[in-house]
Amino acid sequence: MKEKKQNKILELFKPYVPKAVTSRILEGKESLPSERSEATIIFIDIRGFTKLADQLDPEKATEIINNIFEPIVRIIDKYGGSINKFLGDGLMAIFGTPFSHEDDPERAARASLEIMKSIEENGKIKIGSKVKNLKARIGINTGLCISGEIGSASRKEFTVIGDTVNLASRLQVNATPGKILIGEKTFQRIKDNFIISPPRKLKIKGKKDLVSVYTLKGEKKKISFLEKKKNSHSPFVGRQKELKILREALKKSYNSRGQIIEISGELGVGKSRLILELSKDSLAKEFNILSGNCSSWEESKPYAPLKEIFTKIFGIKFDDELKEIDKKIENKIKEIDSSLLFASSYFSRLLSPKIKSLEEIMEQSKEESNLLLRVLKKLLWSFSSQKPLLIIIEDVQWIDDASVEFLIQCSKELKKYSILLIYSLRESLKKRESIAGSKRIKLLPLKNTESDKLIRFLIKKNDIYQLMKDRIISTANGNPLFIEEIVRGIEERRLSVDKDRLGNYPEIFADFPIPDTVHSIARARIDLLPVGLKEILYQASILGRYIEIKLLQKITNLEDKVLLETMKKLQKHEFIEEVEAAPQLQRYFAFTHSLIQEIAYNSLLFKTRNSLHTKIGTAMEEMYLSKIDEKVEELAYHFRNSDDKEKAIFYLDKAGDKAQSLYAFKNAINFYLDSIKILESTEPGKEQLTQLSEIYNRLAFSQSTVGKRKEAEISLNKALKYCRKIKDKNTESLILMSMGNLYGDMGKWDKAIEYFKNSLFISEDISNLRRKARIIKSIGLAYLFRGDTERGYKYLKECLETCKEMKDDNLYIMVLNNLGIYYDMVGDWKDAINTYKKSLSISKKYDNIIEISNVMGNLGFAYSSLNESEQAIYYFKESIKLSDKIGDIYNKGINYIHLGEEYLRKDEFKVVKYYISNAEKIFKELEDKLGLADVYRLKAKMFKKIKNWKDSETFFIKAIKTYSQFGDKINEGESYYEWGDMLFIKKTKDLAKKKLLKSKKLLESIGARKYLKEIEEKLDNL
Ligand SMILES: Nc1ncnc2c1ncn2[C@@H]1O[C@H](COP(=O)(O)OP(=O)(O)OP(=O)(O)O)[C@@H](O)[C@H]1O
Ligand SMILES: [Mg+2]
Repeated sequence: MKEKKQNKILELFKPYVPKAVTSRILEGKESLPSERSEATIIFIDIRGFTKLADQLDPEKATEIINNIFEPIVRIIDKYGGSINKFLGDGLMAIFGTPFSHEDDPERAARASLEIMKSIEENGKIKIGSKVKNLKARIGINTGLCISGEIGSASRKEFTVIGDTVNLASRLQVNATPGKILIGEKTFQRIKDNFIISPPRKLKIKGKKDLVSVYTLKGEKKKISFLEKKKNSHSPFVGRQKELKILREALKKSYNSRGQIIEISGELGVGKSRLILELSKDSLAKEFNILSGNCSSWEESKPYAPLKEIFTKIFGIKFDDELKEIDKKIENKIKEIDSSLLFASSYFSRLLSPKIKSLEEIMEQSKEESNLLLRVLKKLLWSFSSQKPLLIIIEDVQWIDDASVEFLIQCSKELKKYSILLIYSLRESLKKRESIAGSKRIKLLPLKNTESDKLIRFLIKKNDIYQLMKDRIISTANGNPLFIEEIVRGIEERRLSVDKDRLGNYPEIFADFPIPDTVHSIARARIDLLPVGLKEILYQASILGRYIEIKLLQKITNLEDKVLLETMKKLQKHEFIEEVEAAPQLQRYFAFTHSLIQEIAYNSLLFKTRNSLHTKIGTAMEEMYLSKIDEKVEELAYHFRNSDDKEKAIFYLDKAGDKAQSLYAFKNAINFYLDSIKILESTEPGKEQLTQLSEIYNRLAFSQSTVGKRKEAEISLNKALKYCRKIKDKNTESLILMSMGNLYGDMGKWDKAIEYFKNSLFISEDISNLRRKARIIKSIGLAYLFRGDTERGYKYLKECLETCKEMKDDNLYIMVLNNLGIYYDMVGDWKDAINTYKKSLSISKKYDNIIEISNVMGNLGFAYSSLNESEQAIYYFKESIKLSDKIGDIYNKGINYIHLGEEYLRKDEFKVVKYYISNAEKIFKELEDKLGLADVYRLKAKMFKKIKNWKDSETFFIKAIKTYSQFGDKINEGESYYEWGDMLFIKKTKDLAKKKLLKSKKLLESIGARKYLKEIEEKLDNL
């Protein structure tokens, strides 16, 4: 009787069961291997359903089936399970065998919740005037089962048996209607993502002990099972030695002994993974973890990884308006180190750049360009005192020059702070020296036993593992990425043959070809993708490793939902993963490995690539209209790879200007050179000639700033040639001024003056007052340095008047300082002091901290020359205070030396020693040899004063050696003079004469006159 009913339902039911499932359940033609495996079993019972169906006419019964069973079948199929049996009022479904997923228990749980909901919605059945509410009871249990086909050859049935199945059934029986009961193991596997009531103990029929059961109530987060892939890493194998080194470094850093570690190795060998494992260490939880990435297209983008890090520190979101960004920066600085508030505009400039013109940049002092790096550093130091920092910079083979400069500077001081800096790089692409003082870990391939362990885990099917492991081990050669790719390849193959040839693994895999590079295996895998998916994967690769969904949508023209579904599918194939972005970030995906992105990108035809780059560039221009300056490097990258050369030039140029505004001169050079290359490859018209001459001029500025003076000279000559061709006077005068500056930097004062005067002539012609004033100032300075002090003075005075007229305070301050130098040179200390004080009061008005500290130092000097020791000491100390504020430890060291000199005059040797040791510490830390030479020179002078001739001589020799090494002739010459003087006092006349003559020769050769008179007097006395 019971069987009859069942068959009736089954008959009704048949059309709704997916073909693959019915055929296997009912016909059982294909043979499935028996195996022990973990499975999750669901029993569903809809109480009273059969009885009800029996009372109804067939048409009504069909309707109920439609509304209730059809959804159940669909849901189970959707989550990848299969229906195994129909039983009375319900059914049994299996997840995990014969088809397994890594998250079968979760799938089962989600399916059950959905089924419950569907029955609640559809289970109201009207019989006559009464409404009957159908309710389901569900039991879920996970555990080991034996599965396979049982029965005779003619009538086989796929069956799952074992305790796990029995308990699942008992759980269902014990569930109250409308509830889902789950067993212990299911609970363990799903607890993180579901809402589950606390356990109850239940007496279960057939079990001696009480069993813990739980009620499944709902999902914690609404993420579909496909999206959950994020953290599914292979289990970590090997690397214990490396991890130990890292842990030790972590400990040291925690105790304020900062460390730097370089991790190098080939593609996919496990650098990032090693770092990830470290970040899971319990001590790492005590750290603020800040990470930044470098990517191949960002090689010229200034501070690319640092921007990422500082964006995190300041909590800046991707869609913050510029104003908001400034506000956040200010608030955070207040919280971390309020003494840096004066520099908040520098942080804003880094994070929401405002591009400056060349003339504006040219006006800034060199000091100012160092300030950016200094305040960035200082902020990190202060931040690390709140909580230790773990700074991770990945893929340093692609780092930009400005960031390198920053890291090198950091490395010199970092050892005092609670900071661990780890950077990773691909060995074969390494372009630079390792950062000095870093500990280096080189990752070698995994050992065979370790590879084996990994393979064993990754290949769930024992027979495939046995069959393949040796071949995988020998092909992958210890590269875990390679291993993963091979296994994925096998898995794809397994899934694609599953349906009809299940069970014949040996046959299928015996001749499975494993390509011999990780590239080709990944390629092969991509090739297996359905055309539509492959195309999206290719298109995404244009965006780089990280895929911004909004942009991808613009180029694929797919609807939100469709695109997301596609992404999920790609995720399922493990080509991409959703990035666990901080909530402030936009939703985005990433290629599981850069390798996949590279392959996809390289598979695109040039033509397609070009047009996609154009599409993205154009889309970005629209999307980021209000913040375009922030995206110029990216835009430059896309348009450079597109056919839109005009835009390429435009953005490359802008990117160069932006880099220059951030004092990232090397980066700027790269951008400008790229842009010039494109411009010069075409037949330039008038507009292009103007562009070319402007770009060459800006290029020259960057080149000369980084010391490439010859190149700068060539660039300026080209710039001049181009602008003369089109008779662009304005640009010509600017370029002539640049030439003057360049020759000035090279100490070629006559030539500099000649160019300045030419430029002045043209500026007058085009009546650019501002520029005129600046040129006059430059001429004045050039004369001053050439030794033509009076003429210099005349020009500086003239400039001062012009500034007053123009009300240009900025320039006014500079000219005042230059005038001060003039008074200094001619020994007019009182006037020097007055002039400096005037400039000081204006600088204070503008809170221009760099100028203030500059002038304070100058004032100290002037007072020192006047023998007003107290005042001198006061200003040196003030200057130190300011240096502290901006983290300028170099200037601090220099001021320590000045203070030492000052106290030496007063014979306060103890204080002198104190300052010497402070300065020495600083310059050692900075590895600044010239600074150390200054320290040695001061030491020598101190020993000279206490008549310790031997030590004095030793330190003079040391100092002189360094000065001469660096070609610092003034200091070398002066040191010889002081040494000679010492020998003079010591009364070793011959030697004294020798040193004094040497000094004279050196100083004369560069036209330094300060000591010449005294030297001659001494020589006469000998
Ligand atoms: N020791 C390990 N145990 C298990 N899996 C590992 C191990 N090392 C790496 N893997 C896995 O291998 C893959 C590649 O590793 P990873 O991304 O760390 O390589 P990488 O050296 O950083 O490569 P790239 O040079 O491209 O940055 C990852 O999926 C990672 O999870
Ligand atoms: Mg990596």
